[in-house]
Amino acid sequence: MANEVCFRTLHLDTPWSLESYESVGGYTVLKKIIAGELSYDTIIDELKLSALRGRGGAGFPTGLKWSFMPRNMPGQKYVVCNSDEGEPGTFKDRDILRYNPHQLIEGMIIAGYVMNATVGYNYMRGEFYEPFSRMEAAIAEAKAKNYLGDNILGSDFCFELYNHLGAGAYICGEETALIESIEGKKGQPRFKPPFPANYGLFGRPTNVNNTESYASVPAILQHGGQWFLELGKPNNGGTKIFSVSGHVNNPGNFEINLGTPFKALLELAGGVLGGKQLKAVIPGGSSSPILPADAMLDLTMDYDAIGKAGSMLGSGAVMVLDETTCIVEIAAITAHFYYEESCGQCSPCREGTGWMSRVIDRILNGEGRAEDLDNLDRIAGNIMGRTICALGDAAAMPVQGFLKHFRHEFEYMIEHKRSLVKG
Ligand SMILES: Cc1cc2nc3c(=O)[nH]c(=O)nc-3n(C[C@H](O)[C@H](O)[C@H](O)COP(=O)(O)O)c2cc1C
Repeated sequence: MANEVCFRTLHLDTPWSLESYESVGGYTVLKKIIAGELSYDTIIDELKLSALRGRGGAGFPTGLKWSFMPRNMPGQKYVVCNSDEGEPGTFKDRDILRYNPHQLIEGMIIAGYVMNATVGYNYMRGEFYEPFSRMEAAIAEAKAKNYLGDNILGSDFCFELYNHLGAGAYICGEETALIESIEGKKGQPRFKPPFPANYGLFGRPTNVNNTESYASVPAILQHGGQWFLELGKPNNGGTKIFSVSGHVNNPGNFEINLGTPFKALLELAGGVLGGKQLKAVIPGGSSSPILPADAMLDLTMDYDAIGKAGSMLGSGAVMVLDETTCIVEIAAITAHFYYEESCGQCSPCREGTGWMSRVIDRILNGEGRAEDLDNLDRIAGNIMGRTICALGDAAAMPVQGFLKHFRHEFEYMIEHKRSLVKG
């Protein structure tokens, strides 16, 4: 296992402490910045070279995103971390918060320096009690050493960081809904443009990144962009934490190099539970289209390879399904989730997610009709790209994937009123 980037303190007794973080080189990048040894241009160049792509889902290049921030615009600017971790199957960000909080803090301070921002918010999912208290303790430790706060290490650079707990809504992981939520409003996505880089928190320029993205930055700048790039493969730099769940013997988080074969990841997770046959994998969280076993076995775990195979690496939540899995049941659970979580602003998403959920439930209850599958495909197609935020796409893509690869299971259930695999 790699464990070289976000989990690099994990082998230590108290991996979350400042002492542990400093023992692996923590805060040396901040010290170099303060000493004037690491300029804005160098940081952006190293991040671009590293091929770090956003770990929250879309995989947008982080260096490019940081370079878009209007750092010379007068007035307040913000750095926001997305620790909402709402995508079903994902449980990696909470472990960065719990086990290596200082690396996230240093990553956000560096972002503050790069963007000329003096305030940061770490938005955490409402249920993250332990991660919240670890983060609070780590912020206190960092402040005591003057890594955070006013005149950091005697310089004129100031940066305050606040933890903010959400209230457990999937939509608040969407970056503009998250911004609304920090502002104390109902978490509903904003129209874009303007994008947060120009009009974000409290109407000010704001950079939003995922926890794992920020936490990767100190290691990249400590060892160099080329080092990070070479951990992975071109256009897919570094390590990635995969949250492996479902039918495996040893579920958990595994930080491995991007480009590692899926088979090796499955082995780390102890192989398929009870030695059963692999049926399919949902490779990047519940919004990523399912891939059948034969598409997975020669696949490498990186953005480009999974994209080419017709799915997404997404948040890195790998759900393993064995031969006993009824795909119609999985489709029903997934569709119900998106129906429940749609914020209701856009008609295609508000109505379409409900239609898809009800049609799949009807099939599952033995009341499916011959035309249901074409209707499902049509509804999903009509949601795609027609909503303010990507929750609509997130609801439509898995349905399209289930139908593309396992249509025969839906057809069997409509015809025989029972599951092909469960009888
Ligand atoms: C419905 C929805 C939910 C999302 N949930 C999360 C989330 O829980 N965590 C996250 O980092 N990004 C989430 N995103 C993506 C964010 O909008 C944003 O792209 C991301 O935080 C950017 O960070 P990154 O570039 O570092 O990946 C979500 C997007 C959508 C449309």
